[in-house]
Amino acid sequence: MLIRSSVPSRPLGSEITAEPVYRQRRRLLAAAGFGAASAGMAGVFGSGAALAQRSDAGASLAPLEAKPGPFSTMERQTSFEDASTYNNFYEFGTDKSDPVRYADRLQTRPWTVAVEGEVAKPGNYDIERLLKLAPQEERVYRMRCVEGWSMVIPWIGYPLAELIRHVEPTGNAKYLQFVTLADPKQMPGVRAGVLDWPYREGLRMDEAMHPLTLLTFGMYGRILPNQNGAPIRIVVPWKYGFKSAKSIVSIRFMEEQPINSWGRMAPSEYGFYSNVNPEVDHPRWSQATERRIGEDGFFTRKRKTLMFNGYAEQVAQLYAGMDLRKFY
Ligand code: MTE
Repeated sequence: MLIRSSVPSRPLGSEITAEPVYRQRRRLLAAAGFGAASAGMAGVFGSGAALAQRSDAGASLAPLEAKPGPFSTMERQTSFEDASTYNNFYEFGTDKSDPVRYADRLQTRPWTVAVEGEVAKPGNYDIERLLKLAPQEERVYRMRCVEGWSMVIPWIGYPLAELIRHVEPTGNAKYLQFVTLADPKQMPGVRAGVLDWPYREGLRMDEAMHPLTLLTFGMYGRILPNQNGAPIRIVVPWKYGFKSAKSIVSIRFMEEQPINSWGRMAPSEYGFYSNVNPEVDHPRWSQATERRIGEDGFFTRKRKTLMFNGYAEQVAQLYAGMDLRKFY
């Protein structure tokens, strides 16, 4: 895999948790049973590869010490190396290795997120302000891509609900739409007409308010690599990965169900809800099993995909009474 070396191969000390602090936190997490000392950690500090895809020198996670949050899975974490080199981010190209190759062009400072629509407090929210709006937590989430692979990633952020409460939605706000950056100067994939740019995604208000839905700024104890959606993305772990929009520039509070890019592109293949569901196949392939990235071997069995990606206990009630075959 080609990795650009035009930028420093390691993050600047000011940008990440100091290594001793970081290691101590890892020990604490491990002691607390979070299984954090996974193979992924070697990837974080052991190798320069794929650490460099950022252009916002000086940015930091605030606070540096994200506390372990609820809902974390104890499953073995995917390595940082895999999670930051095997990506979907079509603005940088359609190949899984394109984002890590090209995302270093993305300028993530200054960055503002426009909060628009049905809210009492609309406005442009600076990324530094958003970082500090609520205490950050680390949450290890299972992620399942519609293409049949999965990862386990420790994300850092706070519940999107915190921001929603802060901006005070009006009674008309039934949905949220996330609009992401589409700048052909920084994002070579945007020059190709694969999708109707900008990439857009949406959630129903109760989904957006659910405590599992994370407004995300970092992963593996450091700020998000550009290819993973810096400087701000959402992570919705019970839905297929494409619902988790990266590099968000606008959050719109709407009365009507918003457009989402993949739903618009291929409505019979990608629904608005896109809850992980082993019983509803994609028209062209089964969704019953998944390949966990990092577990690949000739004899490795695929895993059975779990309803709502294993988060049924937390989210199934959101869809009570809904025909999940119709609302896929
Ligand atoms: N967000 C934007 N802006 N553009 C994209 O192409 N791809 C989605 C989602 N968010 C995408 C996006 C898809 S298909 C997946 S599987 C996840 O990002 C992948 O996130 P990851 O690369 O951090 O694992």
